[in-house]
Amino acid sequence: MILNITALPGDGVGPEVTEEAIRVLETVAQSFGHELRVTRKNVGGAALLASKDPLPTDTLQACFSSNAVLLGAVGGPSFDEFPRHLRPESGLLRLRRELGVFANLRPAVLFPALEDCSPLRPEVVRGTDMLIVRELLGGLYFGEPRYTQGDPGGRIAVDTMKYSEPEIERIARVAFDLARTRLRKLTSIDKANVLDCSRLWREVVTRIGADYSDVKLSHAYVDSAAMVLAARPADFDVILTENMFGDILSDQAGGIVGSLGMLASASTGGAVSLYEPIHGSAPDIAGQGIANPLAAILSHAMMLRYSFKLLAEAACVERAVSQVLDNGHRTRDLARPGQKSITTSDMGRLVVEAAKETAAQRVAS
Ligand code: IPM
Ligand code: MG
Repeated sequence: MILNITALPGDGVGPEVTEEAIRVLETVAQSFGHELRVTRKNVGGAALLASKDPLPTDTLQACFSSNAVLLGAVGGPSFDEFPRHLRPESGLLRLRRELGVFANLRPAVLFPALEDCSPLRPEVVRGTDMLIVRELLGGLYFGEPRYTQGDPGGRIAVDTMKYSEPEIERIARVAFDLARTRLRKLTSIDKANVLDCSRLWREVVTRIGADYSDVKLSHAYVDSAAMVLAARPADFDVILTENMFGDILSDQAGGIVGSLGMLASASTGGAVSLYEPIHGSAPDIAGQGIANPLAAILSHAMMLRYSFKLLAEAACVERAVSQVLDNGHRTRDLARPGQKSITTSDMGRLVVEAAKETAAQRVAS
């Protein structure tokens, strides 16, 4: 198979982790007889510096003419004072909207070897394996009107949370379908005791749930869900939630499974799917070669699974990651006091080696 991919390394640690993940992809492609074609383009701050546009036309065109898009991260403190449309983040938001990727899948899984990296007690965090399904194109992120107006001292700012029934329905169906491939347990998270959007959300999700009588649906308020997530993370299977709540809860889930550096994501439902680690650009450690590339590597595994249906190849990457962790290798975010930590490229190399071995065993067996 020919894997035609656009890579958008972006800002901060984005380029560092993306390059390691591409190395892993190259290895797997080669071992399984696929041809990998990667086109690299600018996005975010890197694109702003190069062309004053966080999502240049040629970047978008490259994305549309490929089978999948891999993104590193966008953003950085040097852009903090830029107007909204000239911020790196707006490049990413526009990219999501242009591609039409409304369904953001964020698995939060505790790798057994990382039990001791969680701030929670092992018996609390053990068995955590949830899939957060975040609506990605609605709510506060895109609602109009939005503006800041008035004179300094008396300004007001407005953002709008807006959801239509079709928007809720389509993401709910994605979540229910995914629940059928897992434990058939779906928790829809909202704030229906306060927000109109959430009341509509709950009503629509309940209606769609009637088509999925084999999936056990429950509803939770976001505040209470945040508490349960910390107290009993292993209780969750599939979480369905709107854009902003999903943004917040997925970072919390990352903290719970030990490091945001482990969390992959897939944004699907549109013309071309987008895969990115959820950790962001981490400007505090950018350029030091110490970022954890595993979230990017695992995002690429999601790409193999969802965009190319290459299940054995995806499993090979995931198994390689588990194996490297089982062997005790840790980047700085995962290392406990006194434990040795390795660099981004060492971690990449170890996963490449493990993937080669796993692929060879498969061919031999
Ligand atoms: C994420 C990020 C983005 C978001 C930012 C960078 C715009 O935090 O993917 O979770 O808020 O969606
Ligand atoms: Mg986020």
